[in-house]
Amino acid sequence: MSSDKIIVTGGCGYLGSHTAVALINAGFNVVVIDDLRNSRADVLDGIARITGTRPEFVHCDCTDAATMAHAFDTHRDAVGVIHFAALKAVGESVAQPVLYYRNNLNALINVIDMMARYNIPNIVFSSSATVYGEPDILPVTEETPLQPATSPYGQTKVIGENIIRDFVRANENMHAVLLRYFNPIGAHPSAEIGELPNGVPNNLLPYLTQVAAGIRDHLNVFGDDYPTADGFCVRDYIDVNDLAAAHVAAVQYMIKTKKPIDVFNLGTGRGVSVMELINAFGRATGINIKYEIAPRRAGDVPEIWSNADRANKILGWRAETPLDETLANAWRWQTRVGKIIK
Ligand code: UFG
Repeated sequence: MSSDKIIVTGGCGYLGSHTAVALINAGFNVVVIDDLRNSRADVLDGIARITGTRPEFVHCDCTDAATMAHAFDTHRDAVGVIHFAALKAVGESVAQPVLYYRNNLNALINVIDMMARYNIPNIVFSSSATVYGEPDILPVTEETPLQPATSPYGQTKVIGENIIRDFVRANENMHAVLLRYFNPIGAHPSAEIGELPNGVPNNLLPYLTQVAAGIRDHLNVFGDDYPTADGFCVRDYIDVNDLAAAHVAAVQYMIKTKKPIDVFNLGTGRGVSVMELINAFGRATGINIKYEIAPRRAGDVPEIWSNADRANKILGWRAETPLDETLANAWRWQTRVGKIIK
């Protein structure tokens, strides 16, 4: 167990809150920085109910350099930062690219600036499988060549990774782990925390659970004529609690090895089609989802899934939650939040 302090930006968000729980359960002292623009402060109550510990909270937009300096000065004893805070809607980023570049890049630059100023030596960066674009060979390993990003959101991840590479190259006491997430889904088994989409969900599982709850009439399945085994898009859906555990492993790895930089795919190593996911949800919950086949969604790659061997071997981490359990947790969470989230 460790009582090392970790700053979690975006710690009230979906991935951040589950990671805060995993860190606290591993003995870390967690400080959450969040501007609550896409999350709620009562998520901290959920974290407290699960862990028995309420993380310290700093209400701050990471692009606000003065407030960030104050927060990092106060917590200069932290050993690391996990930087989740970012805008993440692909379609919105196409419509408002400057918003995405300004927000995601300024926030990251402020975080690493503060790390250097206060000598906080470790960062975990939330990257994405989107950096692989439409890969020629599957599954993708960390050595798979990156493709030009297909959205400004994706660009901010590619650029963010490069900024961090240059940062650790120039600061020999700084270390980084870049985590490339595939498709995180699910919720904490306690149903105390989960995904809280703002408005109409963009992503498949929150939309699907809202259909199951009667909030939406039916799911639009974007395309049934892809060159895949069953014609539907294939993704690598990873349980959010497994993803959170990987962050704890990454922090422990950095503290131990002091390696300047490393990169890991976070996925299950298994591809699942949209139709397979709908059917798996039916088996896990007993609810048949009403769906309609709709046109393809612009920008979707036909299929992508990870080779997760590197994280398995080096971090000693593995995505182990069975898909039906993940889907049952997502449904339990949806029934808990009910119709508050529309
Ligand atoms: N889908 C539907 N109907 C919906 C929503 C999604 O059929 O209402 C399909 C999509 O076409 C896709 C699959 O479900 O085939 C998954 O879509 P998501 O939007 O849930 O996830 P994506 O794979 O498109 O996006 C994820 C992350 C992004 C990231 C992207 C590429 O959410 O942040 O992977 O790495 F940019």
